[in-house]
Amino acid sequence: MSHVAVIGLGYVGLTTAVGLARLGHEVLGYDIDQARIALLSTGSSPIYEDGLEAELKSALEEGVLQFTSDKSTLAGFFAEVIFVCVSTPQNDLGAADLSLVFLVIREIESFANPETLIVIKSTVPVGTGAKVLKVLGRSDLHVASNPEFLREGTALRDFMEPDRIVVGANSPTVAQRVLDLYSSIDSPKLSTNLESAELIKYASNAYLAMRLTFANDLAELSEKSKAQVEDVLLGMGLDSRIGTSFLRPGPGWGGSCFPKDTRALISLAHDVGVDLPIVSAAVASNKLAFEKAVAAISDLAGGSLQDKTVAVWGIAFKANTDDVRDSPALHIMRLLVKRGANVMAYDPIAQAPSESGISQKATALEVVNGADVLAVLTEWTEFAVVDPAEVLGVMRSPAVFDARRILPQQWRATFSSFRVIGEAAG
Ligand code: UGA
Repeated sequence: MSHVAVIGLGYVGLTTAVGLARLGHEVLGYDIDQARIALLSTGSSPIYEDGLEAELKSALEEGVLQFTSDKSTLAGFFAEVIFVCVSTPQNDLGAADLSLVFLVIREIESFANPETLIVIKSTVPVGTGAKVLKVLGRSDLHVASNPEFLREGTALRDFMEPDRIVVGANSPTVAQRVLDLYSSIDSPKLSTNLESAELIKYASNAYLAMRLTFANDLAELSEKSKAQVEDVLLGMGLDSRIGTSFLRPGPGWGGSCFPKDTRALISLAHDVGVDLPIVSAAVASNKLAFEKAVAAISDLAGGSLQDKTVAVWGIAFKANTDDVRDSPALHIMRLLVKRGANVMAYDPIAQAPSESGISQKATALEVVNGADVLAVLTEWTEFAVVDPAEVLGVMRSPAVFDARRILPQQWRATFSSFRVIGEAAG
């Protein structure tokens, strides 16, 4: 058991704090946001994440997890290991903004006990760990990189049952100290230098994003050539070198990670004189994917969106999260508003920003009332069980666009205009 502090309690930090407490460590979570700390201290999670709140409550009850926004409490906790989980937003040039990371490093330096191990979990450009070591005025502190591979919606499970744990450090002893924290987890563990661990994080996200772009591009090709994209992807994925997971076509990829991390990777490669043309192509193709979704909806609306009412199912960037950061659904809805459409949306959990011009409804059926087109932009399972006849009964025109391929077969028979990504228009 170790004394571990976690600084920054967003998705990553909170999951890490709860996960480490579940692994048997004594954990203190620190964040400057006092309202967040107050909420967490009562056992409520500020984010919608499956299973997180229950584990948070039990860890608090067992006394293995506490939260604070008070610096002296953090200093007095005498953490042996401090995880840095603050955000690294994108700056105007597409690179990661590291100001919060370095602010936190300076604070840690002021109170940390000798031999404290600083573990950087925030997604940071290659070379950041080395820079931290350089700016640290104390040689008795250690630095490691331990990138996270958590998916929103399954974050805690991904923490407890990861595909792999990656630790970057400049000495085997430092790496081992991080690995020891995870000794009860049975997964491949990879120890590398700092730079490799930092690059593994970006490389993984960029590869996954490229893979999805490929699936989306194939979906378009399938539509035009009368192939069934699902069959094509399955037939391709059954090759063990390719694999079938993470190949579901959609309206483009989004979220708080892929868009930011692909651009940051391009930017950090550019800084060292390297071009990454396929990552750049994936980013460009993804932007086009939003436009293509708008074009499909416009076609279904009769060629113009002006004054047409478009009902949208889904606001979150994917199902099982309330996160709307860089959500494809939001990007598409904003484009629809720009083209003159009246956009109404429903999501079981996520909220559309108030300035977006989107009016939000309380149920899946309410939102389709009087609509000219229904577009399914997030793959919540509840959409698949709505009765298409009921939807048809209240819509102004019988037109549906399924950008997530989740509506069952009977929808095709019910709607005379039905388009699904990856299939030729019927
Ligand atoms: C992603 C990675 O999957 C995690 O491994 C990583 O740790 C995380 O970013 C991060 O860097 O923190 P996340 O952003 O939560 O996780 O979401 P994903 O499940 O990867 O989905 C990203 C986007 O791809 C979503 O818009 C989703 O709808 C889309 N997607 C995903 C598809 O269109 N098809 C798929 O088959 C999978």
